[in-house]
Amino acid sequence: MPPRRCRSCSVPAGAEPGRTGTVIVCLCNALTDAQLADAVAQGATRPRDVYAACDCKAQCGTCTKMIVSMIRDTRSAALAAEGRLP
Ligand code: FES
Repeated sequence: MPPRRCRSCSVPAGAEPGRTGTVIVCLCNALTDAQLADAVAQGATRPRDVYAACDCKAQCGTCTKMIVSMIRDTRSAALAAEGRLP
């Protein structure tokens, strides 16, 4: 019997949150969390920077708040790793 999978995202049922593989962040442009992380690592600080790094543009804008949140989280984690958070 094949492993059970989530019907909406194909993640194996019972997978550990945060360790499930690629997540599509922007449906219009099929941008993944990995592409977003790469863009932030290359210096993207705004959603428009992420779109530019991925050679696309915002379409519907639904993903913008999520991208802002992920940029903030990624940058905070990087600063914490460097010991530069207050
Ligand atoms: S979901 Fe990203 S522009 Fe539409």
